[in-house]
Amino acid sequence: MTKFISVISAKGGVGKTTSVINLASALQYLGVNTLIIDCDLSSPNTTMYLGLPYKTKTINDALLGRSHINETIHTHPCGIKVIPASISHDDIEEYHYGRFDKVLADLADFDVVILDTPPGLDKPLVSIVKLSHYVITVSTPDMIALTDTLKTLKLVKSLNKKILGTILNRYDYHNNIDTKPHDVEKFLDARVIGVIPEDSAVKKSHYLRNPVVYAFPDSESAQGYKQIAAGLLGKKYEHSLPSNKKPEEKSAIYYIFKNLGLAK
Ligand SMILES: Nc1ncnc2c1ncn2[C@@H]1O[C@H](COP(=O)(O)OP(=O)(O)OP(=O)(O)O)[C@@H](O)[C@H]1O
Ligand SMILES: [Mg+2]
Repeated sequence: MTKFISVISAKGGVGKTTSVINLASALQYLGVNTLIIDCDLSSPNTTMYLGLPYKTKTINDALLGRSHINETIHTHPCGIKVIPASISHDDIEEYHYGRFDKVLADLADFDVVILDTPPGLDKPLVSIVKLSHYVITVSTPDMIALTDTLKTLKLVKSLNKKILGTILNRYDYHNNIDTKPHDVEKFLDARVIGVIPEDSAVKKSHYLRNPVVYAFPDSESAQGYKQIAAGLLGKKYEHSLPSNKKPEEKSAIYYIFKNLGLAK
């Protein structure tokens, strides 16, 4: 059965879309049949970051009954499958969010579907979280984002959804200002499933309309995402981030994925 994972944050701009694109690419690279759906109908940045053709069919077409959901699946040149959202202002309507459930019921089989979401904790986000099996939160290592992440985690718990953990993004290994991953875990009382450093390769990859995992596979951020994907699958991934933290042999998430039949 296809497992839906939503990637969320109350605060905008912390790296949800970047994480969706790259986690999906890394999972695909590791042999997991993965689909991305751009569920941020007001700011469809997945669609923009991957430079999907303007005229292609979108999730909006499926939500409006103009196309079958499977006709909106697009294969990006790097190989990942994506359902884009419309960038036209005419196609934005909040009540579309209430139709995701029905439309996704007809979706072709994938191992994992990763849902990019709008920032905030209001109705659109809640409707996406409700149809997800699992949730990943993304935060930057500053107190404003982390406090918002606490609220996000509380919401997810109230909806009885399983939290895989938090991706700590834009971490600077060279300063003493950023909250350290260990302290983030204590503050959030939640697991940090990966640390992605501040990395200029991320912006360059957006410019190139490609995942950083594909465009700059040896960059620190690409390695970070590959490590997260490997952790989800219980695989070992040796990397060279400037950190003393060694990847764990088998993460707690491995056992969740094992139960899903995704971990080898
Ligand atoms: N690890 C990183 N290193 C450097 N820049 C990054 C990193 N991650 C994200 N960025 C930059 O931060 C900006 C916001 O990233 P992104 O669009 O992924 O965030 P978001 O949470 O999806 O935003 P929104 O809430 O608006 O949807 C982008 O310009 C992106 O290039
Ligand atoms: Mg986004």
